[in-house]
Amino acid sequence: MILLKNQQQIQLMREANQVVKQTLQLLCENCKPGVSTYELNKLAHDFIIKCGAKPSFLNYCGYPASVCISIDDEVVHGIPSKKRFIEEGQIVSFDVGAILKGWHGDAARTVAVGYVDDQKQKLMEVTKQAFFEGVNSIVIGKTTIGDLGHTIQTYAESFGYGVVKELVGHGIGRQMHEDPSVPNYGTKGHGMKLVEGMTIAVEPMINAGTDKVIFMPDGWTVKTLDGKPSAHYENTIALTKNGVEILSL
Ligand code: MF3
Ligand code: CO
Repeated sequence: MILLKNQQQIQLMREANQVVKQTLQLLCENCKPGVSTYELNKLAHDFIIKCGAKPSFLNYCGYPASVCISIDDEVVHGIPSKKRFIEEGQIVSFDVGAILKGWHGDAARTVAVGYVDDQKQKLMEVTKQAFFEGVNSIVIGKTTIGDLGHTIQTYAESFGYGVVKELVGHGIGRQMHEDPSVPNYGTKGHGMKLVEGMTIAVEPMINAGTDKVIFMPDGWTVKTLDGKPSAHYENTIALTKNGVEILSL
């Protein structure tokens, strides 16, 4: 069931997503060699609380931290750890969710630590641009979920990259995950139309090599099957009478 949001509700989601955006900025600024992913998680957790919000990932289906930190060949859902340290040359994906006044925000960024090789640099740029190719192609009331996925997939695959299929974007609102599912692949004309009042998280997860992933025994971390790097870029967007608004930018 799709829950459409009115202007007031979208305003509340804007506020939640601004907390998420600021948390991501803080994480990116502090993503330096030697810092542990545990420390980064703590920084984000404390900031979200200070904003009067709650980290929505903490205890979600038993998830043990407030943010996800996924490095290099980790695609998503990396668990922060006191034993994991940021190193020069890595690409680090941060995924943050916050709930404020009962409404959710969800977004992700991938950043380079110092100098990274051309493969990683290009992958990060294409993943971000895949999001914008998709979102900029949306014509409210006309574009379907399949069209959106097709646009993202076609763009990413034109660089020879693998589009992760096992994990998808999603509706978002009073719940972090609502209908519809928003795959980063698809067929033109398939799926429901994107209409005014929808709020969705669009989140391409793009691999430098194969699209195949493995789920690690920790129950959370998802890695690329071939060990090549992966990038993630996500924003919550709202489809309003004034057009598509990216709430977490
Ligand atoms: N941001 C993820 C998503 O878009 C959710 C992270 S899973 C969690 O679905 F367990 F960490 F919450
Ligand atoms: Co999401």
